Amino acid sequence: MKTIEMLTGELAPTFGALVRHRRATPHFRADPVPAEVIDIALTLAAEAPSGFNSQPWRFLVLQNPDQRAALRRAALDQAKITEAPLVIIAFAQREGWKAHFEEILREKARRTGQDGKNVESIKNGALDFIGKLPAAAWLNRHVMIAFTYLMLAFEAQGWDTAPMEGFDADAVRRTFSLPKDSEVIALLAVGRATTPDTPHPGRLSVSEIAFAERIGEPWIPSTAETRSAGSP
Ligand SMILES: Cc1cc2nc3c(=O)[nH]c(=O)nc-3n(C[C@H](O)[C@H](O)[C@H](O)COP(=O)(O)O)c2cc1C
Repeated sequence: MKTIEMLTGELAPTFGALVRHRRATPHFRADPVPAEVIDIALTLAAEAPSGFNSQPWRFLVLQNPDQRAALRRAALDQAKITEAPLVIIAFAQREGWKAHFEEILREKARRTGQDGKNVESIKNGALDFIGKLPAAAWLNRHVMIAFTYLMLAFEAQGWDTAPMEGFDADAVRRTFSLPKDSEVIALLAVGRATTPDTPHPGRLSVSEIAFAERIGEPWIPSTAETRSAGSP
């Protein structure tokens, strides 16, 4: 069984290859995903950064065929949801995340050798700042980082994935009795692809997506290798 340390050691030199070879998998075989693979992926997703270390992401892990069939009905009838042996619903609560906030701040104080006397004022300042932001955008910003870590953690362990936004959030909330203040952010199907090589659909070039110092001045990559985005 691979430990997180072993996996992390193996991952470092292959990050570029991992990212360039990941594809959104259109169809899955039924081979089950081992529990330890799921554990490692969730543990690595939990390492994602977040504002104030708030960690608002939550994951509902579905393996049961009836549960996945119910999700498929709430998700545009996407076949990959019942084909894949594992589908994870990434969601977050507008208010619910706050239940852990003080504990999170106290843990940081403990780990950094502080007495924790200022936790209450840090908490109030953070809640004041976050309270002025659009809640759905704030939650999305954070959950998608953890979701991306999760997706790449499965891919790093040799599994195929498919991220999905095609769902009816209200229907997903109702079907799985998610807390009322939940935002459903994205779905991730995980399993083995039926066909090994979905073609790379291409990407904008780095000079189209990045600017140097001012908008309109494209970032010019220094080597041919970094100019060729989208052709692993
Ligand atoms: C947030 C997100 C939502 C997506 N939603 C769906 C979806 O609902 N159904 C689907 O078939 N593909 C979905 N995709 C897959 C994209 O179509 C795919 O990632 C994109 O075409 C690029 O292909 P690639 O991932 O193989 O590079 C989604 C991708 C992302 C990142």
